[in-house]
Amino acid sequence: MGRAFVYVILGGGVAAGYAALEFARRGVAHGELCIISEETVAPYERPALSKGYLLPEAPARLPSFHTCVGADDERLTPKWYKEHGIELVLGTRVKSADVRRKTLITATGETISYEILIIATGARALKLEEFGVRGSDAENVCYLRNLADANRLVAVMQTCTGGNAVVIGGGYIGMECAAALATNRIKVTMIFPEAHCMARLFTPKIAGFYENYYKSKGVKFIKGNVLTSLENDSEGKVKAVILKDGTRLPADMVVVGIGIRANTGLFEGQLHLEKGGIKVNGRMQTSNTSVYAVGDVAAFPVRLFGNEIRRLEHVDSARKTARHAVAAIMTPKTTGDLDYLPFFYSRVFTLSWQFYGDNVGNVVHYGDFNSGRFGAYWTNKGVIVGAFLEGGSREDYEAIAKAVRFKAAVKDTHELESTGLEFALRA
Ligand code: FDA
Ligand code: NAD
Repeated sequence: MGRAFVYVILGGGVAAGYAALEFARRGVAHGELCIISEETVAPYERPALSKGYLLPEAPARLPSFHTCVGADDERLTPKWYKEHGIELVLGTRVKSADVRRKTLITATGETISYEILIIATGARALKLEEFGVRGSDAENVCYLRNLADANRLVAVMQTCTGGNAVVIGGGYIGMECAAALATNRIKVTMIFPEAHCMARLFTPKIAGFYENYYKSKGVKFIKGNVLTSLENDSEGKVKAVILKDGTRLPADMVVVGIGIRANTGLFEGQLHLEKGGIKVNGRMQTSNTSVYAVGDVAAFPVRLFGNEIRRLEHVDSARKTARHAVAAIMTPKTTGDLDYLPFFYSRVFTLSWQFYGDNVGNVVHYGDFNSGRFGAYWTNKGVIVGAFLEGGSREDYEAIAKAVRFKAAVKDTHELESTGLEFALRA
């Protein structure tokens, strides 16, 4: 049993959706392209799952957030794929791949062969078990990576109004879910090992602003601590979280966001790996010329950082690497190396921030940390390498992005601090 396609996209997430749009724009013929996804729905904008999807009033639901609405582009519904002759093989896990033979084998035993493969398998959420804590399969312990997780989280949340939630992890998932839980009138305690939230990106000063804001919404923080076990009731539900210092926190539900691992497993030993991902060149091509990798699973050279290999776990990178790979496949002669400006963002409560570039070097904060109109620049060797801004306008964000993209020169950091956002607007 088997099927053959010219192009196969393995994975049906954000990158797959944007790759499909690019294929369609560049004129893929009917029957040439197929997307294989373990998920049962067509590609969608994953960021919606920790934002609009969790709202107590008028929550976002499919089909409203299929890709590529997140970039103000066409909404690719199942009907769109049909009209474009793109095969969606949904609810199907690929269990092995052979890049020499150019074949994939699905969990149901079907062989799908390709001429060109795009790996867009994204990542999976790390489990508490991987840190030696048992019991995270209890029905009121929630992770958040896909639509099924989000549905479960919503169902558990609805039984906990007025109750206690413990959020494990102070990264993106922890912060966005804590805000959603508080908005759903659930009492939230966040626990994480670092001294402040969002430690991979925020400075202590930036984190201080968000932590104070969260506290004003009733969220409690326990920092520099980790959980050691979950305490269950007689029905197997978690009723408390036990921390390393012995603290016992009663819990009606637990949300876990302790990081991810890229889904590289099918290709280990077949393709070059780096930084926990599949290594690609600036055209998103792996060590096998018929295989490309995009999105969270790809480790690619960032020209702005001297072609240092980075694996980024953000939606903008998934969208742009996917589109670039398709351009490189369909128009190889006119497509050079991707020149990508890393871009991260988040929205919580009524707050909203954006970050561009790299958070290395010296930090210069500016603005008013009480009113929520503030930002920061990272400078290295006399130029701007990173920029963060809370509550900016489109024009403001474009200005800080430009300051990073063109490595605006900084003569005097005191002046940078006092001119603040104006520096980018004038640069
Ligand atoms: P993605 O994870 O989207 O898709 C991977 C796909 O591959 C899935 O459909 C999966 O089922 C499938 N797959 C994997 N292995 C398979 C196999 N063996 N067989 C078949 N299918 C397989 N970023 C940001 O910049 N701003 C934001 O606000 C957010 N918000 C956000 C919220 C939440 C809840 C999450 C989980 C993530 C974010 N992100 C984000 C991160 C962003 O969503 C992420 O970077 C992209 O989804 C990555 O896109 P990919 O297509 O690479 O992976
Ligand atoms: P993360 O890497 O952002 O944060 C992980 C957090 O868990 C950190 O605070 C870390 O210290 C903590 N942690 C690690 N081990 C722990 C342990 N044993 N006990 C307690 N805490 C522990 O990862 P995440 O928040 O799980 O997010 C998952 C992925 O989803 C990331 O790729 C992220 O980029 C993506 N995402 C992005 C956004 C956004 O960009 N706005 C939003 C949601 C999710």
